[in-house]
Amino acid sequence: TSTPKAVIVIFGATGDLAKRKLFPSIYRLYLNGKISEDFAIVGVGRTPFTSEEFRENVKRSVNNSEEVDHKVDTFASHFYYHPLDVENVESFLELKDLLGNLDEQYDTEGNRLFYLAMAPQFFGPIADNLKNQGLTSTNGWSRLVIEKPFGHDYESAKELNEQIRAAFTEDQIYRIDHYLGKEMVQNIEVIRFANAIFEPLWNNHYISNIQITSSETLGVEDRGRYYESSGAIRDMIQNHMMQMVALLAMEPPISLDAAEIRSEKVKVLRALRSLSEQEVNDYFVRGQYGKSVINDQELLGYREEKSVDPESNTETFVSGKLMIDNFRWAGVPFYIRTGKRMKVKSTEIIVQFKDLPMNLYFNKGENVHPNLLVIHIQPDEGITLHLNAKKGDGLATSTPIKLNYCSNCGDKLNTPEAYERLIYDCMLGDSTNFTHWDEVALSWKFVDTIAQVWEKEKAQNFPNYESGSMGPKESDGLLDKDGFHWWPIGTTIE
Ligand code: BG6
Repeated sequence: TSTPKAVIVIFGATGDLAKRKLFPSIYRLYLNGKISEDFAIVGVGRTPFTSEEFRENVKRSVNNSEEVDHKVDTFASHFYYHPLDVENVESFLELKDLLGNLDEQYDTEGNRLFYLAMAPQFFGPIADNLKNQGLTSTNGWSRLVIEKPFGHDYESAKELNEQIRAAFTEDQIYRIDHYLGKEMVQNIEVIRFANAIFEPLWNNHYISNIQITSSETLGVEDRGRYYESSGAIRDMIQNHMMQMVALLAMEPPISLDAAEIRSEKVKVLRALRSLSEQEVNDYFVRGQYGKSVINDQELLGYREEKSVDPESNTETFVSGKLMIDNFRWAGVPFYIRTGKRMKVKSTEIIVQFKDLPMNLYFNKGENVHPNLLVIHIQPDEGITLHLNAKKGDGLATSTPIKLNYCSNCGDKLNTPEAYERLIYDCMLGDSTNFTHWDEVALSWKFVDTIAQVWEKEKAQNFPNYESGSMGPKESDGLLDKDGFHWWPIGTTIE
């Protein structure tokens, strides 16, 4: 394995993401030998801190998620803090000097990874200063990692993109969608393209519908302010859910080259049926959680959450039907659903195959169970294939059976965390699991159509689902109309 060298500069180093995800992920890369000693991390933020204090924070965040290790002190010694005002050229020049020194001290060959984990209004000015104050011009590589939200709609995303592109080229830009770093999201491709038994059936002749659910049990917690301007459609559908749709629906790429995969994903997004106002209402359901009591614990409704408007119309749940108008998928609905405060924390993809032309067997008086391929994204990672077989008595009976594969059960294989993988990929210069501007633009356009209709027509019946449910009942109606139903999700793989 290669051990890339670099100075990583984290803008927003005092924030939640750095603490919860970035530091622990970099620590795991370090423990696993993916990065050696040739790296330094510079935390940048508005809050004044000394490097000593910053290291203490890093150690705390790392110890929370990993068993305490003697290596943690050496690890933390690679961290530095640089207070910075985004508008102030001087502080970029000071940062430049610091980076120059660290390049030498840690032998990083001038490689620089700039990680922007802060509000999007700062992306443009930071990118501009990095370029114009000469922080990117070294003898090594410079890459820019950008966290979500990448804009609020197509127009703002485009503007943001133009600002960033003024300073960095597309191949230097790594837009994070952390779902693309998940083991089983990456596995969608392998399951599809490494198995002769699936790919020939993977089309509208044999698949009746595909269901993708990403449900959460938590509410918005302390992110009310952000969430009010985003809602589930921007928070989850525009990025994570659309990416999963693209991976499920794309044509086999001619190679695993990042550009080849991307171009197939882009074609799927281009083939998404654009919706009329009427279709938005017919195909999409929005919801908002009300207050409820679960296990004697009172849970706030969305409108009571901190920084949320008591009359908020922001949706915390979305379900919808996507149609992909191409030869492979014409007529096959892709149902998607995501929400906060639902029954389980789970992400699952269920591919339902069409019924057989006739029924020879009884299944306790019912039709034989359709074949399902379940891709468990989280918390379990694996697949379940639902088949039918004879069990015990009569030949005329068929019983549903399940074939399970679990990649993280039992011996708890230590699969890398999404962020760990993505940071490493970026250091290696592999952009396969990052989103290209073309994908971002197309998914925004799709989402904008829905968001615009919803903005015009305020929801009449919010809140409309209880915590611990699977969303408003209209969400079930969506599938009923087509003669389908949501399959239960969140079952663990035995
Ligand atoms: C983030 C959203 O992108 O994804 C959050 O902003 C959401 O609101 C999270 O909770 C879900 O990620 P995961 O990995 O827990 O499914």
